[in-house]
This record gives sequence, C-alpha cells and structure tokens, in this order.
Amino acid sequence: MRPLATLAALAVLAVPLPANAQDAEAGRDLFRQNCVACHGPQAGGNGPMAEILAVPTPNLRLLAQGNGGRFPLYRVAARIDGRDPLLAHGGPMPLFGSAFEGEDVALKTEAGQPILTSRPIADLLAFLELIQE
Ligand code: HEC
Repeated sequence: MRPLATLAALAVLAVPLPANAQDAEAGRDLFRQNCVACHGPQAGGNGPMAEILAVPTPNLRLLAQGNGGRFPLYRVAARIDGRDPLLAHGGPMPLFGSAFEGEDVALKTEAGQPILTSRPIADLLAFLELIQE
C-alpha cells in the first residue's frame, strides 16, 4: 500500500461512528429550548412566532421528502450552525452559533462525505432525522 493511502485509511478509522456520536433525546431538548418558538412544538412550522416573521417558517418534518427521501444532513447542519446563512436564523450573525458549541463530532452526509460539527448540532440533527415523515 502507498504511504498516503495508509494514512487515509488510518484517518477514517479515527472518525467516531455516527451511531455513538449522536443523541436524539438530547437533540429533542435542544429543539424545545431553541426552535419551537418558530418551527412549532411538533416542528411543523407553526410556532407562535411564525406569524410575525416576514418569511414562512418551514415544516422540518418534510426535509427528507423534499430531498428525494433522504435527510439533507449537510444542508441542515450548515443552516443551523450558520455556515449557510438564513434570513430568520440571523444571516451572517447566526442565532445559535455560540449556543451550540461543543466538542467536535464527525458525521457522514447523505452523500457519504464526512463533516465536522459540534455535539449539540449532531444531537439536533439526530432528532430532526428521526421525525422525518
Ligand atoms: C426566529 C424564528 C426561528 C427560530 C428560533 C428557528 N428557526 Fe429555523 N427557520 C426559520 C425560518 C423563517 C426559516 C425559513 C428560511 C429563512 O430564514 O429564510 C427557517 C429555516 C430553517 C431550516 C432550513 C430548512 C430547509 O429547507 O433547509 C432549518 C433546517 C431550520 N430552520 C432549523 C431550525 C432549528 C434546528 C432551530 C433551533 C435550533 C431553528 N430552526 C430555529 C425560523 C426560525
């Protein structure tokens, strides 16, 4: 084996398994604390604040449905952590950036690419993935 390929193989082994890394229960708590005001208690997009926002608040249970049946993990992660700025989430100044800091967790996107995010965001993603219709 070429030395570079060996290094790559070792790097892959060092990545924690997503199953161990994510806690959907903790994610649900984070969702209750940070997201229901707009996205609603069942994530259906009908929270008390939704009606005063200028843009419609999406139903977060339909993310997979709108993405050919696969949960769009990368897009959702990027939107929550502010890498992909959204109007209602604060644009260049994310609403949640610092609230969701924590140890780094490696996840696999739906396309199989590894990405790094924080543990709270990984937990939120696990919760959101679980509630897809
Ligand atoms: C202040 C109201 C508000 C809060 C709080 C809020 N959101 Fe949102 N969210 C929105 C609105 C409105 C949109 C629609 C897009 C936009 O901002 O232009 C959106 C979009 C999203 C999207 C993009 C959906 C897609 O199709 O890609 C995701 C994912 C999301 N929110 C997750 C969350 C999570 C998780 C939380 C809690 C950590 C949260 N939001 C908190 C209002 C909010």
